[in-house]
Amino acid sequence: MKITVIGCGYVGLVTAACLAGFGHTVTGVEKDPAKVSALKEGLIPFYEEDLAPLVTGGLQKKRLFIQEKIDENTAGAEVIFIAVGTPSLRNGAADLSQVFKVAEEIAPYLKNYTVIVNKSTVPVGTAKQVREIIKRNLAGEIPFDVVSNPEFLREGKAVSDFFRPDRVIVGTNSSRAEQVMKKVYARLLADGTPFIWTNPEAAELIKYAANAFLATKISFINEIANLCEAAGVDIDTVARGMGLDKRIGGEFLRAGPGYGGSCFPKDTRALTHIARSCGQRVLIVETVIKINEQQKARMVRKIREAAGGLKGKTIALLGMAFKPGVDDLRESPAVDIANRLLAAGARLQVHDPMALERVKEVFGARINCCQDPYDAVTGADVLVIVTDWPEYKELDLAAVKKLMNTGDTPALLDLRNIFTPQEVRRYGFRYQGVGRGWKGDPENDLQN
Ligand code: UGA
Repeated sequence: MKITVIGCGYVGLVTAACLAGFGHTVTGVEKDPAKVSALKEGLIPFYEEDLAPLVTGGLQKKRLFIQEKIDENTAGAEVIFIAVGTPSLRNGAADLSQVFKVAEEIAPYLKNYTVIVNKSTVPVGTAKQVREIIKRNLAGEIPFDVVSNPEFLREGKAVSDFFRPDRVIVGTNSSRAEQVMKKVYARLLADGTPFIWTNPEAAELIKYAANAFLATKISFINEIANLCEAAGVDIDTVARGMGLDKRIGGEFLRAGPGYGGSCFPKDTRALTHIARSCGQRVLIVETVIKINEQQKARMVRKIREAAGGLKGKTIALLGMAFKPGVDDLRESPAVDIANRLLAAGARLQVHDPMALERVKEVFGARINCCQDPYDAVTGADVLVIVTDWPEYKELDLAAVKKLMNTGDTPALLDLRNIFTPQEVRRYGFRYQGVGRGWKGDPENDLQN
């Protein structure tokens, strides 16, 4: 099939490259000329596992093309995916201006029946609005349908998620569009992937509800973790005990500094906004957002207590990306924590295996970026693990202790619980994780 994907950001590029991987002929449209030239060379502006070879392979086999402008060629595709950004507006609502602009731009070029697919995360009712915009801007009586087909890709695992999804949601009221979407996803249908064929509004809401539910699991476990600290209980044991119940499931029950990234914070805010615009409240999601903010502030209090104040203290932060495996700082708890520490007068020495360049862009000279985690801990008063990169688990803690500034009992704050308290204390550290109740553990002197 001939397919166009408009927007070659993270979702658009993965979608374009993977659809080309299915054997379709795909044109990705990207308005940033610098990105277009880089992509044509197979250079991807962000890190995503397995994506580079897929893009290069697609370009070489002439299944994937990248261009800057929407034109007759791109609009002449059987299917046009809209995969542009829907960032948060100030009031938390999703900003749909890019989606609407694309709809306006493609409409005059349409000649034959076309299926326009909303891949971007968009509020309930957007498919209808896109339909109206296209209708107003058509050059004649051209038949078309608008379909909602939300993505559930995880950054870092997006390619494997695309080829082996838990489910595919297709929202359309048109059986003609349904047939076209069956051709797009023929490979996944043949593999037995579960499909839900529904109306556009339900598809739109499924996306927000799924992300909000995952965010709820995280805020829930973080609250229980905080309770564990007060009650002298270990959160990992509680999470495991809960997660083995198949109805609950063990995933997304890792306590930590709060969720981040380009999706959960934005989508939870947008969902509360969607509800309000329907005259409803989703109180649970409103609370989830509040808990997530409080969790980041709580982490800063932990650091302050461990350092005995923040002014003039040197704090080593290991891990700045919002999760391991990506170089993305968007709404990363680490960035929020770093800003709060800087505002309180602390000096920061940070390391991240992939995101350092972006850290430099965000913080400039305000932060000391270190290429090596051992440089980051040198002379530090407190060591904080913020993102659970697997390499931090391999740190030589004896060497770390020697490099730090705190004599016999340096403090290690493990905000992702990557270590066990025992293994850290063996080296003479004072240790604190998240939800690892100190009351039941007299050895932990960070809180006593
Ligand atoms: C999330 C969803 O998982 C995807 O299904 C969805 O498609 C995507 O948003 C999106 O809407 O585009 P992603 O943002 O890549 O994917 O990140 P996740 O792996 O879900 O992690 C989000 C945040 O939650 C991270 O900061 C992570 O550290 C945190 N998290 C996750 C926890 O604190 N605890 C957990 O147990 C799990």
